[in-house]
Amino acid sequence: MRRKLAAGNWKMNGTSATLTELQALARSYPAATVDVLICPPATLLHRAADAVKGTEITVGGQNCHAAESGAHTGDISAEMLVDAGASSVILGHSERREDHGEQNEDVRAKARTAMDAGLKTIICVGESLEQREAANTLDIIGGQMSGSIPDQSTGENLIVAYEPIWAIGTGKVPTLNEIGEVHDFIRARLERRFGEGVGRSVRLLYGGSVKPSNAADIFAVSNVDGALVGGASLKAQDFSGIIDALQKA
Ligand code: PGA
Repeated sequence: MRRKLAAGNWKMNGTSATLTELQALARSYPAATVDVLICPPATLLHRAADAVKGTEITVGGQNCHAAESGAHTGDISAEMLVDAGASSVILGHSERREDHGEQNEDVRAKARTAMDAGLKTIICVGESLEQREAANTLDIIGGQMSGSIPDQSTGENLIVAYEPIWAIGTGKVPTLNEIGEVHDFIRARLERRFGEGVGRSVRLLYGGSVKPSNAADIFAVSNVDGALVGGASLKAQDFSGIIDALQKA
C-alpha cells in the first residue's frame, strides 16, 4: 500500500509571520493518516521543522545543489537541508527548469546527491500547453522521466509529481481522464524500468491548481497518491481542505 501524501510548496512566499499557518496545521493534524509535507523557503526551514516537531508533519526543501559542498555562492546542499530538519526535497519543478534553465541531467544529478543524503526526492515532470496541444504530452513526460530519475530510485526515496505547466497557478486543471492517462503512463514506465515491486511502490502526485473544491475528484483518479500544492498550501485552512479530502480518498 502506498501511503498518501499531501505536499505543500510555498515557493518564494513566507516570512516569520507565515509560520503561524504551519503551527495551525500542526495543531489540526497531530497524527494525520496521510503524510503531510510543507516545503517552505529555505530561510524558514529550521523554524518550520521546530514548529512541526512532535507531529507527523515533515518539512522539505524546494531545491538543492548537485555537489555535496563547495564554492557555490547562494546555493544550498542536500546535507544542509537534512541538517535544517528536512525529510524531502522538490527537484526539477518547472519554475526551476524555466527560471534557471535546469535540464533533465541537472535534475538527475541533484536527485542522486539528495538521495545519497537520505532525502526523499519529489521529481517534477510536466508538459507545456503547446506540447499538450501538439499531442506530445506522453513523449515529453517519458523523456523527462528517463532523463531526470536516477537509477538508485526506490519506493522510499522517489516520489514523482505530474505538474502540467499550464495548470500551475492558473486555476486550469486537466480533465480527470487526462490526469489518469498520464499517471497510468508514469506508473507503467516506472514498472518497466525498476520492476513491478519498486514501480508500484513509488508515490505519484498530481500538481497544478489543486484546491479544496477539486481535490476529492482528483484523488479518486487511479494512480493519484496525493498532491503537490502551491497557492492553496499557504493558508492552513485551504491546505486542511485538501488533507481532509486525501484522508477520505
Ligand atoms: P499551484 O502550484 O497549486 O499554485 O498551481 C503547484 C506547484 O507549482 O507545485
